[in-house]
Formats: sequence, structure tokens, C-alpha cells
Amino acid sequence: MPNPKILVTGGAGYIGSHAVLALKQAGYDVIILDSLEYGHQELVEKVLQVEVIIGSTLDRPLLDRLFQEHQITAVMHFAAYIAVGESVNDPAIYYRNNVVGTLTLLEAMRAANIHKFVFSSTCAVYGVPQYTPLVEDHPFAPISPYASSKLMVEQMLMDFDRAYNFKSVRFRYFNAAGAEPQGRLGEDHEPETHLIPLILLAALGKRESISVYGTDYPTPDGTCIRDYIHVSDLADAHVLGLLYLIEGGDSQVFNLGNGNGFSVKEVIETAKAVTGKDIKVVYGDRRPGDPPILLGSSAKAQQVLAWQPQYPQLAEIIRHAWQWHQQRHG
Ligand SMILES: NC(=O)c1ccc[n+]([C@@H]2O[C@H](COP(=O)([O-])OP(=O)(O)OC[C@H]3O[C@@H](n4cnc5c(N)ncnc54)[C@H](O)[C@@H]3O)[C@@H](O)[C@H]2O)c1
Repeated sequence: MPNPKILVTGGAGYIGSHAVLALKQAGYDVIILDSLEYGHQELVEKVLQVEVIIGSTLDRPLLDRLFQEHQITAVMHFAAYIAVGESVNDPAIYYRNNVVGTLTLLEAMRAANIHKFVFSSTCAVYGVPQYTPLVEDHPFAPISPYASSKLMVEQMLMDFDRAYNFKSVRFRYFNAAGAEPQGRLGEDHEPETHLIPLILLAALGKRESISVYGTDYPTPDGTCIRDYIHVSDLADAHVLGLLYLIEGGDSQVFNLGNGNGFSVKEVIETAKAVTGKDIKVVYGDRRPGDPPILLGSSAKAQQVLAWQPQYPQLAEIIRHAWQWHQQRHG
């Protein structure tokens, strides 16, 4: 019997590339579909050694050809635009790429009789928390077009299941962070908006300073608290979610977070300790829409999928990211 073949959209990106590595290690065959608007083809080809089809989820004829030429068991869908601020300024491109792109993919899958789907959603669908840690049935209140685009896809997936028996696992990630522990893969977004890489780029002298937005939040040190989940732990959860679907599991939604929150100041102090560098910090006002605390419970994923995060320690997450950043940008 050949290994099941998985299509990974957005597999040349940060989280997708780590998932591809985990899938390969678990014995799956993988092909990647990536537009390469973001993402890094050379990393995928050198490190992962998998076929990359360069194209968009919006291209229905390409998807139909792909599903005819390859016997695909399931799709892991990472491809999306991800910049929250950009989505506020230009929502149309987010709804087109993230919603229409996904609908096009789902329709092509249906036509090819493929009905197992693992989806990258986000904790941003909850909006400003009414309580923490957030659990999966917390009400939805997305505050950006990016978050709305993810919630729309979640709703499409639930409707597809009811109408077409289309099974999906929706993962709502908290802040993905860190890098593959051996330093072969890591985070390299352009433009970069995530806290840990921004701090590490400042530590490398590639940025002058790091900005902290708000020091008067109702948290112990006044800065926002966030939940950072190691990208390799995210990748492992995807392999478990896929297995769950292959074994006949019903559609489910799971939070994927660390369960431990770290304040912005704690992240900066830990990064200083890990890197041994002094990092210049500029303090500014709060940004609109930033909740004081974002923290998730991943108890459901741990119970149903037997997922156990391997790297919950902030210092280890930053150490792996630092190893990667030094060799990528040093
Ligand atoms: N990074 C995080 O902390 C985080 C948190 C929550 C959810 N997510 C979700 O996880 C997924 C992956 O995020 P990431 O940080 O790896 O982003 P990324 O930008 O590194 O990866 C996304 C990849 O998708 C590709 N892509 C975009 N639109 C495409 C399309 N229409 N067709 C084909 N390829 C396309 C890009 O070229 C890129 O390589 C996204 O769906 C994102 O919304 C990320």
C-alpha cells in the first residue's frame, strides 16, 4: 500500500513548512501548493525535499488538474494572508484570498471526492475575551477582516459537513512561535509583525529597537499577556488531527495554545537572557483592539487527540527561534 498523500497548501510558509516536516516524519507523502507570494521555496526544496506546485487556491483549473494527477487523501490548508493590520486597510484582498480561495479549494475537493480537511483558524475569532483561558465555545466576536475571514471559513466547513458529509478539523492557534529544534526551518515573514522574531531581529542589530504598546494594562507588569505555542508542537497537532480524520473522526474544533501566558516584558527579558544581547525597548501607547490577556485552554486537543506539547517553556521557544534567526539573518 502506498503512503497516504497529503496536499499542504501554504506549505512553503512558516507553520506549513513545519507541518510538512512532521508529516514526512510520520510517513506521509506530501505535495505543496503555494503561490510563493510569501513563503520560501528554497527552504522547502533543500530541507523538506518535496514537490512544490507554484499556484493559488483561487485557480480552479489548476486544482482540478492537481487532484486528477495525484491521489490525495486529505488537505491541510495553511494558505492565507495573515497580516491583521493590512486586512483592516484592504479587506477585499483578505476576503478574496482567505474566503474565496478556500471555497474554490473546497469545491475542487468535492468534485474530486476528497472530504478530509485540516484548517488553520485563529484565536482571533474570539475577539476580546470575556474570560480566560478561552475554551472552544467562547462566543465569536472577530474584530478584524482577517479574523472574520477565518470565521467565515469555519462556518463554511460546518455547513459542508452538514450538507456533504465533509469532515474537517479546525485548529484555532494562539501565537505560533519558535523554530524547528535543529534549526532547519523557522519564521521569516516579510513584513514581520510577530513579537519574538521582531525582538530577535533587534538582538541581531537588524532592527534598531522593539516597540511595546501599552504599559498600563491590568496585568502584573502592565504589559499584555499572550499565549505562545511552539511551531513544532502545532505541527504535531496537525499530524494527530489528520490521523483522527483518517480513522473516521467527526468534524471538530480545537484550540492550540501553550496554556501559559507570558507578558511582553517577560518575553523581552527572556530573549535578553537567551541571546545575551541588550535589546533597546521603546515604550508607546496601547494599540486599539489589543486585549490585555489572550490565553487559551488546549485541554480538548490534549484529551481527544492525545496531543502533548513538547516545548511549553518560553526560554526553549526563544532559544530555538534564536538558533534559526542567527543562521538565517546573522
Ligand atoms: N503565525 C501565527 O501565529 C498564526 C496564528 C493563527 C493562525 N495562523 C494561520 O496559520 C496559517 C499559516 O500562517 P503562517 O504564519 O505560516 O503564514 P505564512 O505567510 O508564513 O504562510 C502562508 C503561506 O501561504 C501562501 N499563500 C497565501 N495565499 C495563498 C493562496 N491563495 N494560494 C496558495 N498559497 C498561498 C503564502 O505564499 C505563504 O507561503 C495561516 O492560515 C494563518 O492565518 C497563523
